[in-house]
Amino acid sequence: MLVEHKHIKIPRYIQDLHPYVPGKTIAEVQDEFHPEQISKLASNENRLGCSPKVAEAIMNCMSTIQDYPDSASRELRGAIAKKLGVSESQIVIGAGSESVLGMLARTFLQEKDHVVTADVTFLGFRIQTQIRGVKRNLVSLTKDYRFDLRAMADAISDDTRMIYIANPNNPTGTYVTKVEFETFMSRVPEDVIVVMDEAYYEFAKEEPDYPDTVNMGYENVITLRTFSKAYGLAGLRVGYAVGPGELIRNMYKVKFTFEPSVTAQVAAQAALKDEAFLNETRTMVRSGKERLYRFCDKHGINYVPSHANSVMLIFDSEDQTTKFTLKMLKQGVILRQLTGFGMPNGIRITIGTDREMTHFEESCLRISNGSDD
Ligand SMILES: Cc1ncc(COP(=O)(O)O)c(C=O)c1O
Repeated sequence: MLVEHKHIKIPRYIQDLHPYVPGKTIAEVQDEFHPEQISKLASNENRLGCSPKVAEAIMNCMSTIQDYPDSASRELRGAIAKKLGVSESQIVIGAGSESVLGMLARTFLQEKDHVVTADVTFLGFRIQTQIRGVKRNLVSLTKDYRFDLRAMADAISDDTRMIYIANPNNPTGTYVTKVEFETFMSRVPEDVIVVMDEAYYEFAKEEPDYPDTVNMGYENVITLRTFSKAYGLAGLRVGYAVGPGELIRNMYKVKFTFEPSVTAQVAAQAALKDEAFLNETRTMVRSGKERLYRFCDKHGINYVPSHANSVMLIFDSEDQTTKFTLKMLKQGVILRQLTGFGMPNGIRITIGTDREMTHFEESCLRISNGSDD
């Protein structure tokens, strides 16, 4: 319950803040429902795990964990800069891209500012900007669940300081093309920062019309990437921003000094080197999506084709969606109903291993023939 403190004034925007509600953990589902198998398909993690080289790197750094980490993550920053073909001064690394979103809000926004984003997208941006008390202008997605860049450009006002685009978007999996992005940028004033959140970059980059925003030369674009998804390091917390050196230099001033941790930094370096694991992940996600589409087509389930590692399923009503999500949970399949994203008749399913996708399909079939109870 929210209690107004007798003496301390809590800002209205903090009182009104709804913190992020993560998907259920395996332990919570185990305790509540005791299913025979649990498939955690609610949080867009990598169901293959992570590169085996990560464990080795963490073991090797154990003798240094009594020391504070390198606050500038120099080695990791160098490795990322080399891979992306940019200068190290263009990169700042934090404890996940959520933390980097916090840095963006702390560095560039004040209470009187406005930001623009979509109504159905990753909630981290909304939360981190609300913490600064800014006004948010949420533009509806198009009918086919894509960022409506024309409407977003129309929504820019003199007070707009930042625009957020997740590309591909979470939870829809849709993406903005290079031409769409360039047309949009031609309408964005130079004093407005455009944040391109590319958490699912590794799953979309092969599309010929997907924009490589890191190398497009815009002076007001900051790109975010993460080790939480394709690299399978969500539990370690590493994400970063790439952008013009002057903007990044100012973000450094507000970064929590010692994030990410020693183990996170060495793990990310090891993960970055393991292309084979990355390819294995991409193959699993690609074939898992095709399998899911075939299953949905066969059983009349609506879905939005995705370029991320998850797919949004669309049901007829909130009630039906809530019941389905709960019945799946009881069978050990953790899915994400998208109520918090403003789409209560949507469910997001993370693409898992063959075993997990079989668990999903068999549980769906048990529900449809009534044998799940
Ligand atoms: C678009 C998007 N950005 C950022 C994040 C957060 O990633 P991280 O684990 O790096 O904080 C997510 C996680 O779901 C996401 O979907």
